[in-house]
Amino acid sequence: VVLGGLVLLLLLWLFRLRRQRHVHLPPGPCALPLLGNLHQIDKQAPFKTLTKWSGVYGPVMTVYLGPQRAVVLVGYEAVKEALVDQAEDFTGRAPVPFLVLVTRGYGLAISNGERWRQLRRFTLTTLRDFGMGRKRMEEWIQEESQHLIDSLDATKAVPFDPHPFLSRTVSNVICSLVFGQRFGYDDDNFLHLLNILSAVLRFGSSPCEQLYNIFPWLMERLPGRQQVVFGQMDELRGFVMKKIHEHQETIDPGNPRDFTDCFLTRLKQEKDVSSSEFHYENLVSTVLDLFLAGTETTSTTLRYAFMLLLKYPDIQEHVQQEIDTVIGRQRVPQMEDRKSLPFTEAVIHEVQRFLDIVPLNLPHYATKNISFRGYTIPQGTVILPMLHSVLRDQNHWATPTTFNPNHFLDQNGNFQTNPAFLAFSAGKRACVGESLARMEIFLFLVSLLQHFSFSCPGGPDSIDLSPEFSSFTNVPRHYQLIATPR
Ligand code: HEM
Repeated sequence: VVLGGLVLLLLLWLFRLRRQRHVHLPPGPCALPLLGNLHQIDKQAPFKTLTKWSGVYGPVMTVYLGPQRAVVLVGYEAVKEALVDQAEDFTGRAPVPFLVLVTRGYGLAISNGERWRQLRRFTLTTLRDFGMGRKRMEEWIQEESQHLIDSLDATKAVPFDPHPFLSRTVSNVICSLVFGQRFGYDDDNFLHLLNILSAVLRFGSSPCEQLYNIFPWLMERLPGRQQVVFGQMDELRGFVMKKIHEHQETIDPGNPRDFTDCFLTRLKQEKDVSSSEFHYENLVSTVLDLFLAGTETTSTTLRYAFMLLLKYPDIQEHVQQEIDTVIGRQRVPQMEDRKSLPFTEAVIHEVQRFLDIVPLNLPHYATKNISFRGYTIPQGTVILPMLHSVLRDQNHWATPTTFNPNHFLDQNGNFQTNPAFLAFSAGKRACVGESLARMEIFLFLVSLLQHFSFSCPGGPDSIDLSPEFSSFTNVPRHYQLIATPR
């Protein structure tokens, strides 16, 4: 079967090459049949190879990830021109096999066309209007901050790994949003769920996942780590289905408690509308999307923020002074405070720029032939608008490879934004959770710095800021944190 598959792929490859002899594709390195350019790409940090190649082939180039053709967009100008100025053409999402497997092809993040439009509009509106439940999102986060403060207090200034603390906290925010409830930090079911989520996301950033995305039919048949993860995904889906069932039993349509209630209400309203995308499969997969896209991204950003504050204690002190002056040590921080904390805002933006959490972006897709800068990008091409190249673009950042909050401050110390800050991407497909993520990062960080000073056992020099691995996401190294009450 495997050999047959390989021969078939080879034939398809040759057929495609013949058909595309006259298409004006963006330039790129020579590719081998089946393997494409895979053998030339750095497995630990693919974006490094792509950045190097863009020096030779320019900001729009073609590479082959196995048999799959991809067009890579490099630098702020090319990425913005595609995602914003030509948004209609570049909105498609690639059918990334791993994401298709997790979501079974349903939900928001992996969809295109009318399904994506309906689910995206609904998700954005529900997130934006989240004043409707018993509590507003800001209050959920403030309450969760207090739980986090209590759990850090309990460490009694003994070094600990902040990873599980931050994961529990951030996952609880998504649980509040989608299920209207938080879980205790010692709830075994919750911890089990987090372990699964973390295993699925770890797999999602591993070389094994990259192979799965390129040769899914082969990896599905081979034994290995992926088989365990497939089982864990079913468990995750089972958890979400159980929660939806509980909601169906207890829903009061006049008083929606959370995202799930809102979706179920819409599902009922549109049960006779044949074009409606509000059905059970889309509900389960959209909830999974929010968990998968909204947990590790935000908690990793917080984890990296603390790492940077350990590395640069003077910056930590400066932020604390600003918080002391504007909020003091007693009052609960709120989003309104953001505009009075320009240095803190600059540090948070710079943390995100410097972390560069999704260096290649989530893959986009040509759902039809696209003309771009005189080239043709044929239908079926994966498009990688490389966020790494924007967040490190030397034409837009004074010191792109250095952590420097001044990137977001004017000469008078006022916060100033920079158009090349595309940590959440841009255009019609940009992150739907941006506002929520910003709220979480700001409120958690400010609340913790209000209550604690942070240090680490080996001092600033022991902190290694380079990622542990960087495939789909940049994953920071583990470190120990000491939280000393102020
Ligand atoms: C998509 C970044 C937090 C939900 C994305 C994309 C990026 C991103 C780069 C891909 C955009 C594109 O395709 O051009 C981030 C970062 C976060 C974060 C850096 C935190 C620091 C969240 C949160 C949620 C969320 C908290 C959920 C509430 C989503 C969803 C998509 C997405 C559902 C897919 C949107 C679509 O396909 O239309 N995010 N995200 N993200 N994000 Fe986020």
